[in-house]
Amino acid sequence: KIKGLLFDLDGVLVDTAVYHYKAWLRLAKTMGFTFSELQNEELKGISRMDSLDKVLAWGNVQKSAEEKLALATQKNDWYVEMINKMTPAEVLPGALNFLQQAKQAGYKMALGSASKNSATILKNTNLAHFFDAIVDGNSVSKSKPDPEVFLKGAQELALQPQQCVVFEDAEAGIIAAKRGGMKAIGIGDKNILKQADKVVAGLGQLSVKNLEEL
Ligand code: BG6
Ligand code: MG
Repeated sequence: KIKGLLFDLDGVLVDTAVYHYKAWLRLAKTMGFTFSELQNEELKGISRMDSLDKVLAWGNVQKSAEEKLALATQKNDWYVEMINKMTPAEVLPGALNFLQQAKQAGYKMALGSASKNSATILKNTNLAHFFDAIVDGNSVSKSKPDPEVFLKGAQELALQPQQCVVFEDAEAGIIAAKRGGMKAIGIGDKNILKQADKVVAGLGQLSVKNLEEL
């Protein structure tokens, strides 16, 4: 029986995926290249440094470790500028309602995000109070598709992986959930989130009652 819900943040609860995309694109442009929205899908769910490596490879650019750190910092400064201005209005359609329903139904809830900026986002959008545990980029050492972030989430909720459902918009995140032994609900496109147990366009398309059918 499902007792715990593990939520990815970017692209599931809030629309920060577009801010990540804007900041990476801006960085790529400073190096004289650009990349597509489809390529951007590959950046979803993976860590900042792993994202940078992919972006640099697309531009055929080589950088030293020191230069990479400076580039990642620049990207993050631009990103933080955008998320500092976020408001509760940027919670994705249906997400707030779903979190409220789930809380009322007694599910335990954890955040399972790759981001090191989750605290800022949760604070500005007023979502922090829903979570019994927060596992993010500051507390994991392996990036999705490694299941570490969700295994830690389940553990902090004192639940077995099989008792948990993961909500994810990234292919890497769905793979992480399945490797961890959890159910996975994809938020987005069926053709991209192939391994998910169920895919919906947004949390607004889902009711807490659907969790019993998984
Ligand atoms: C994930 C995003 O939630 O966080 C990725 O989907 C991002 O695109 C990753 O790279 C790390 O985020 P941050 O905020 O630590 O740079
Ligand atoms: Mg995401």
